[in-house]
Amino acid sequence: MSRREKAVQILQPGAPEVLQLVDIEVGEPGPGEIRIRHQACGLNYIDVYHRNGSYPLPLPARLGMEGAGVIEALGEGVTHLSVGDRAAYASQPPGAYCTARVMPARCVVRLPDTISFETGAAMMLKGLTAQYLLRRTLPQGGLQAGDFVLFHAAAGGVGLIACQWARALGLQLIATAGSDEKCALALASGASHAINYRREDFAARVREITGGKGVKVVYDSVGLDTFEGSLNSLAAFGLLVSFGNASGFAPPVQLGQLAAKGSLYVTRPTLFTHLATREATQAMADDLFSVVGSGQVKIHVEQRYALDQVVQAHRELEARTTIGSGVLLI
Ligand SMILES: NC(=O)c1ccc[n+]([C@@H]2O[C@H](COP(=O)([O-])OP(=O)(O)OC[C@H]3O[C@@H](n4cnc5c(N)ncnc54)[C@H](OP(=O)(O)O)[C@@H]3O)[C@@H](O)[C@H]2O)c1
Repeated sequence: MSRREKAVQILQPGAPEVLQLVDIEVGEPGPGEIRIRHQACGLNYIDVYHRNGSYPLPLPARLGMEGAGVIEALGEGVTHLSVGDRAAYASQPPGAYCTARVMPARCVVRLPDTISFETGAAMMLKGLTAQYLLRRTLPQGGLQAGDFVLFHAAAGGVGLIACQWARALGLQLIATAGSDEKCALALASGASHAINYRREDFAARVREITGGKGVKVVYDSVGLDTFEGSLNSLAAFGLLVSFGNASGFAPPVQLGQLAAKGSLYVTRPTLFTHLATREATQAMADDLFSVVGSGQVKIHVEQRYALDQVVQAHRELEARTTIGSGVLLI
């Protein structure tokens, strides 16, 4: 039996106005799939790349990669979930901006009762990203309490989670952000220092803060605008983790530059490699649920929209006027 639901789709890439709310048919889950009825879905910067064509999708395309709701039906072979479970996910393929969907069960986990649907929808993609960055994407010898790291766009969705998680790990996280208000928020969330990178040369400030040494890791999701400064902020043998391109794609790396700047390392990870198996997804989610459950990490849901306000939600995300996480409430 199929039912009529609502979903956001694009017919071609472009500005926020290409997002349209349409009626869709949602059927029964096949083997390895579930049907979930959403209560909320998360807004992420990757949705902008999907919408504007930076990350091309086959068209027409549905958008959204994060959601929370109730499991309505199970396909054959799904044993880790039950009908009626509260659940949440960060997952390929896109399509979370909808009332209900059929999707692979592999990336869907049970949501602890203490975590609301809104928080669940706001934290899975961003929180699992902070998890793999701070816990699994490390320099030679790892990170120890007291070490300096630099985290760009630190007042954003991933950023505010990372500030708090870094504090819980004893790291000194130097935040960058695009306004003084955002810098203050990053500091209040656990950053040891904050730099307004629209006003200041962040690489020079990082040298000052670290007594000339530089940081062990730069977590850079801004891309084009920060790439060079990020390399210049690293200590010898430091690691540049380029994990996004909010300002445009980072330029190609000249390998010789890495030698000249101190035998540096560069990596370009994506969450979805880390979520390749159900076991890995569950282990990462358990780690995230534990820091959220203990109160070490609070999920800042600062923007809330109805599904039919998705165009406005994208405008605001791109205009850099948002802080923390945003959700579409179903
Ligand atoms: N590779 C992965 O696995 C992975 C997973 C999740 C997210 N990401 C990336 O992580 C980043 C953060 O994601 P998010 O969803 O939490 O978004 P977000 O940080 O809430 O929003 C993006 C932020 O980027 C900053 N920014 C700098 N230059 C910009 C520009 N020219 N245009 C727009 N924004 C600009 C803005 O903060 P300021 O005003 O403070 O500069 C903006 O608020 C994104 O780049 C995303 O693609 C990567």
